[in-house]
Amino acid sequence: MITVDVLLGSQWGDEGKGKIIHTIADDYDVVARFQGGPNAGHTIYVNDKKIILHHLPSGIVASTRYNLIGAGMVVDPITLKREIISLTELVDSVKERLLISLRAALIMPTHILLDKASERSKGKSSIGSTQRGIAPSYMDRTGRNALRMIDIHQKDFEDRYKRLKEKHLKLLKVYEAEDLISHLEDMEPQWFESIEFLRSFQFVNDPYLWESLRDVSVLAEGAQGTMLDIQWGTYPYVTSSSTITGSVAIGLGIPPSKIRKVIGVAKAYTTRVGNGPFPTEMPEEISEKLRQRGGEYGSTTGRPRRCGWLDLVALKYATMLNGVDELIITKADVLTDFEPLKVAVEYDLEGKRIREVVPYLDRVKPIYQELKPWQQVSLDDENFMSFIATIEDYLSIPVTMVSYGPHRDQILSVKSMGTMAS
Ligand code: GDP
Ligand code: IMO
Ligand code: MG
Repeated sequence: MITVDVLLGSQWGDEGKGKIIHTIADDYDVVARFQGGPNAGHTIYVNDKKIILHHLPSGIVASTRYNLIGAGMVVDPITLKREIISLTELVDSVKERLLISLRAALIMPTHILLDKASERSKGKSSIGSTQRGIAPSYMDRTGRNALRMIDIHQKDFEDRYKRLKEKHLKLLKVYEAEDLISHLEDMEPQWFESIEFLRSFQFVNDPYLWESLRDVSVLAEGAQGTMLDIQWGTYPYVTSSSTITGSVAIGLGIPPSKIRKVIGVAKAYTTRVGNGPFPTEMPEEISEKLRQRGGEYGSTTGRPRRCGWLDLVALKYATMLNGVDELIITKADVLTDFEPLKVAVEYDLEGKRIREVVPYLDRVKPIYQELKPWQQVSLDDENFMSFIATIEDYLSIPVTMVSYGPHRDQILSVKSMGTMAS
């Protein structure tokens, strides 16, 4: 029997998913990424050494038996090779524990250039993408043109690569981005070298992997966050994959009925990197204070993250969409002694009070409830426990753990205090 638990981001990404997976991964036989690609940056500390994973499931740093790069992903071979090599020095048996889906799609160097060209052409209304080639590679997949891992083993691989590259070069001309083409001189040799490197890894036909492993427990590792979902996020300021629970079955080739539990991860506040609506965004002065305290700079791009208050309206939407059974709150330490302390409980939509995430989120203004700051992330701190109870009451789901630092053991088990208390 296969049982799947899902852990995913409930906000705009960077909720601390990597850290939490590192903490719980030993309970699972497999950790599997089901969507996204190197736009993700999941940070994990191993003995004070900071590791940022872009493709590799976070179980690779724990002792999880297998780690799967699932069919729903898009993979940049250059970044993946780099990740594997840097990890090999720190972690045992990376190659033996890594499985790659034959159906995962490849990000080509021209996808990266197209991402840059598209962003440039949008000017002020750019998405603020990570420029890792995510949108162009997913476009090729839905357009039925993509190269997949299976193709690297075929004789006509280079011909197919060339044909698709030619198409991309034409598109770059449409974007008037011929100046970017010279980057291929550096990128292409590295790309083919990385493909060679990957060829000897273990590739899988996912549904049969689950069949062969029999009694297996899987942790599906989400990337990005619910509000960046291609369909349900703040479109068009989203990523190009589906980031929610519904995507797990499609991305891993497992029946939806095998999903046992959904764990949501949310920061005690909110961050967003890139452009797009962000109702609870703080004025820059407060945002900067939080950015410094929380080290809020992008793990993939180094960009400063936009900071805001916890948005319970958006979080409720995320728990509904994903069927979140339990919530883990991260970075509670960052808000210690933070005054004033606010959470959004409603939106004002042109004079009307609503509790809904609408498809035009730029038109809402948050309505806040003010809370008392805590002095310690502790079960004994009344104000802290009242913050947790406020979240539980609002969402009607339990908060089971609170993270108070980037390291694996900086985690607190929480007994429900709000409506969830039994
Ligand atoms: P992910 O993409 O969801 O895995 O999150 P990132 O790794 O991009 O960003 C989370 C950042 O917060 C990383 O730098 C983590 O090391 C750090 N972090 C995670 N949990 C905590 C926490 O509870 N407290 C503090 N101070 N930092 C944390
Ligand atoms: P993890 O897994 C935060 C954002 C980008 C941009 C938008 C589209 O670390 O939480 P893309 O490159 O996907 O086309 O960019 O999505 N974005 C993320 N923001 N965390 C991430 O991943 C992100 N991956 C993409 O900043 O706004
Ligand atoms: Mg991240």
